[in-house]
Amino acid sequence: MKIGVPKETAEGERRVALVPDVVRSLRKNEKVEVLVESGAGDAAGHPDSQYAEAGAELVGAEAARGADAVLRVAVPSAAEIGRLDSGQVLIGHLAPWTSAETNRALAQAGVTSFAMEAIPRTTRAQAMDALSSQATAAGYAATLIAARESGRFFGMMTTAAGTVPPARVLVLGAGVAGLQAVATAKRLGAVVTGFDIRRAAWEQIASLGGRPLELDFIPDAEGEGGYARPLTDEENQQVRDALGENAAKQDVIVTTAAIPGRPAPLLITAEAVRSMQPGSVIVDLAAESGGNCELTEAGRTVVENGVKVIGPRNLASEMPAPASQLYAKNLESLLGLLVSEQGELTVDFEDDILAAACITHGGEIRNERAAG
Ligand SMILES: NC(=O)c1ccc[n+]([C@@H]2O[C@H](COP(=O)([O-])OP(=O)(O)OC[C@H]3O[C@@H](n4cnc5c(N)ncnc54)[C@H](O)[C@@H]3O)[C@@H](O)[C@H]2O)c1
Repeated sequence: MKIGVPKETAEGERRVALVPDVVRSLRKNEKVEVLVESGAGDAAGHPDSQYAEAGAELVGAEAARGADAVLRVAVPSAAEIGRLDSGQVLIGHLAPWTSAETNRALAQAGVTSFAMEAIPRTTRAQAMDALSSQATAAGYAATLIAARESGRFFGMMTTAAGTVPPARVLVLGAGVAGLQAVATAKRLGAVVTGFDIRRAAWEQIASLGGRPLELDFIPDAEGEGGYARPLTDEENQQVRDALGENAAKQDVIVTTAAIPGRPAPLLITAEAVRSMQPGSVIVDLAAESGGNCELTEAGRTVVENGVKVIGPRNLASEMPAPASQLYAKNLESLLGLLVSEQGELTVDFEDDILAAACITHGGEIRNERAAG
């Protein structure tokens, strides 16, 4: 069978679906060929020569996207889906919960598609969990952007010319990205506070050296599958009020709060931004799903009273080498469920991971949530 890795075409996308090490590992099965589009890994630091050395065949765009299984990072455009043939397998980010058009187009094209966003968050699926691997890269990148944009030392500096106190950093939402932001800010020496509406996250914040902001007037909001449940309007208001007071004390706020499939909760109001010191920075990781800060604009930096509100898009792509390395490993693990020792591609819908991640098959949208 042939696995194809086309060059990513989405604007600003620097990641690549397979890195040379993973190509080498896949090629241990002699029945598996890997076709990589020339230049696909350039932006992630992997020139064609590394792929060739690892056993890939360097090809043009058409051959890469014509393989039995096509591996991608970013959500494909309508034109790209239009170039796929019936019976091909496509694996990548597909935005299945928010892009009904993509789901319909993939079904119409007769493509068997697997969305990395739909991999279940179970212990068995951990090695395939691209949401986690890419959130790790995003949380790290967000903290570095905040540190650079704040123009402050994160750690305390004791010098002959005096002592500069450490930066105060608040991280909102302590899932995978938020915990990585806590850890990264802490390693840089900042005084870090973290907040989440799931109580279990408080201990995790503390284990990384952060101080959990224990707003215990709201009950634990841990819901189904370990995810947060949406707060009531009244609870949300209480949280916003408390965070508004706390924001004024911070030099940097990194926000990552999300509820799957819903717009991001509003946590930092415009008024709270105005209460912060000029020169402070907010990096809003939830920018693309509406933002945790009222002033966030996706893809832009808004300056209000000297406070920068940064709404980055696709932060994982800011760390193209490690993000690609982890993503490629996620894909290799998933391929392990799809490719037999004889090099045959078969989809066993009895497998809970494949059943959950498959969005379209046989001309239909198979995934109930994606269909609804
Ligand atoms: N394989 C696994 O078992 C696995 C892997 C990753 C995550 N998980 C679990 O999934 C859950 C979510 O993780 P994620 O990284 O995908 O999170 P996410 O990106 O969906 O959300 C980020 C965080 O925002 C928090 N949040 C939501 N509303 C908020 C609000 N109003 N104020 C403050 N915080 C708010 C959530 O509780 C979550 O921690 C966690 O319980 C995590 O342990 C499990």
